[in-house]
Amino acid sequence: MSKRFDNKVVVITGAGGGLGQTSAVLFAREGAHLVLTDINEEGLKESAALVEEAGSTCSTHVFDIMDESEIEAFAKEICAKHDKIDVLYNNAGAAYGEVTKMVDDMNQEKWLRYLSLNTVSPMLLARAMRSSLSNAKGLILNQSSMASYAPATVYGVTKAALNSMTYGMANVFSAEGIRVNAIAPGIMETPANKEGLTAETYARVQGMQLSDIHGTAEDIANLAVFLASEEGRFINCDVINCDAGNRLRAWRN
Ligand SMILES: NC(=O)c1ccc[n+]([C@@H]2O[C@H](COP(=O)([O-])OP(=O)(O)OC[C@H]3O[C@@H](n4cnc5c(N)ncnc54)[C@H](O)[C@@H]3O)[C@@H](O)[C@H]2O)c1
Repeated sequence: MSKRFDNKVVVITGAGGGLGQTSAVLFAREGAHLVLTDINEEGLKESAALVEEAGSTCSTHVFDIMDESEIEAFAKEICAKHDKIDVLYNNAGAAYGEVTKMVDDMNQEKWLRYLSLNTVSPMLLARAMRSSLSNAKGLILNQSSMASYAPATVYGVTKAALNSMTYGMANVFSAEGIRVNAIAPGIMETPANKEGLTAETYARVQGMQLSDIHGTAEDIANLAVFLASEEGRFINCDVINCDAGNRLRAWRN
């Protein structure tokens, strides 16, 4: 039986765990060939095994997404191998730890580091992979956050800038038939998220949702698959929220 992503190539950054790993599995179930990248080699091995278990194939690539020369070397290799790339899912990012601080705790070097990782690297990678994305009339998907609507931390600022970057990228790439969207997740349970937040903070943020349900990595991965599918073809230059209404309360508090 044919699957929705048979003969399609999907590149996911930050695929060594959490939302990136779960998305890899869901795309694999739909028949996609995965190209998985991360700085975490062990996590990538685990993801590759899960992709295989889901009945598909992948390659794995360990590199630092903040290093422009490594981005370019990866893109050159992968575009030479795949003339058409259907999806670039820019999921890698820093969300926990010192990135959740703001004015008094951050010097210029740190600000630039997190902007480089969360905001600029998605654009650099997309630009470097432009030829194969263009050949496929593919989709670029940036992983934003509901924190982008209340940028009270470095993290929120980098994701707010990523929303703007998404619109700017769409303005450029759409002429080549490439759609560009972002997903803004709410609080979704991932190992990094559980470890990065105290139980009290997790419960408090979850308690701001309008819908009293638990957010999972599958909720985000399902949305990514939909946006990348034929059914999502009319959605371009947008930030799609997936947060059970959380952002509304975050604004009000
Ligand atoms: N889980 C949530 O509740 C949530 C909510 C909103 C947004 N997000 C966003 O979703 C994405 C994934 O979050 P997650 O919860 O799965 O966390 P995670 O830490 O498991 O995922 C981030 C991945 O990015 C990789 N990475 C970090 N720096 C890198 C670098 N320099 N080069 C290459 N790879 C690097 C990490 O190794 C990790 O595998 C992040 O962009 C995060 O901001 C998550």
